[in-house]
Amino acid sequence: MKTRITELLGIRHPIIQGGMHFVGLAEMAAAVSNAGGLGIITGLTQRTPADLAAEIRRCREMTDQPFGVNLTFLPSINPPDYPAYIEAILSGGVRIVETAGNNPQKWLPMLQEHGVRVIHKCTSVRHALKAEAIGCDAVSVDGFECGGHPGEDDIPNMILLPRAAEELGIPFVASGGMADGRSLVAALALGADGMNMGTRFIATQEAPVHENVKTAILQATELDTRLIMRPLRNTERVLTNAGVERLLAKERALGDAITFADIIPEVAGVYPRVMLEGELDAGAWSCGMVAGLIHDIPTVRELIERTMREAEALIRGRLMGLLDSIEAGSMEPSVRRTKSAL
Ligand SMILES: Cc1cc2nc3c(=O)[nH]c(=O)nc-3n(C[C@H](O)[C@H](O)[C@H](O)COP(=O)(O)O)c2cc1C
Repeated sequence: MKTRITELLGIRHPIIQGGMHFVGLAEMAAAVSNAGGLGIITGLTQRTPADLAAEIRRCREMTDQPFGVNLTFLPSINPPDYPAYIEAILSGGVRIVETAGNNPQKWLPMLQEHGVRVIHKCTSVRHALKAEAIGCDAVSVDGFECGGHPGEDDIPNMILLPRAAEELGIPFVASGGMADGRSLVAALALGADGMNMGTRFIATQEAPVHENVKTAILQATELDTRLIMRPLRNTERVLTNAGVERLLAKERALGDAITFADIIPEVAGVYPRVMLEGELDAGAWSCGMVAGLIHDIPTVRELIERTMREAEALIRGRLMGLLDSIEAGSMEPSVRRTKSAL
């Protein structure tokens, strides 16, 4: 399948693995890139720029295909040394960067002067248009369903993606709630050029996380995520657990008076405990509603090849079949009635 995204990024399939804290290590990114998608190393999971440089080298030993690095710009009192992280990306020869969390304008010249393609992740049409205006090469449009930070507008992808398609000139991928061939075909139908998956890639053989995390995603249904930190306007979709329910009780009790300090026990330092040690109740960790569509733990290659097979079968089979049946005059009687009435 050829789309503007496969062309822009030089990949075989229009499937991207979004940056994920403590999941996007070299093993994850290499597995996705080797299977023809775009794997992404999560920059800030590496504690220092030197660690990121080493992780990029490790990834390069595992794949000769293109892969990217995610740079998340978080509101922070002591911001990470972004210029040094960017230097690690550039000197590591990485040519694709996924930015997220804040306007990346300040960092674009540094990246694009070295031929880096920048995909900015946005949760609204206005942010996507801003990304286009400042010169991003593509955007990832993250709907309300998504695992992680869906923003504060709460617009699901069924509306957000066609709205993005109406407004944007640059290529974009659909993100949030994407799991399989059905998602890909739907995303393309709504105007996207491919899809970005987060949660789905955690439940794969190669995802470098504790088995408990994979099992939890497998067992979760679409009803099991919660939105936290809404009163702080830093909404995050996470899998429910004891720590999350404790946090939500604090939000209810404290109302608008809540501060970040009140929830530190449930959000700080959680990722290594969950992803490495498998302590699922340690606190809040991102997970999408798409957990309800995840029923197995395939290899990344199986997942991507199955997705592409399903997408092709859907387009050539079910969808083309619907058109053929109209041409052959074999429509449902009710449809025929409507048509003749017209
Ligand atoms: C466990 C986890 C950690 C994540 N960490 C980050 C991150 O550090 N930076 C980022 O930009 N997005 C992060 N995301 C968001 C994903 O890149 C992606 O946009 C999102 O998962 C898409 O929604 P989905 O989970 O429904 O596929 C994370 C998502 C998950 C599930």
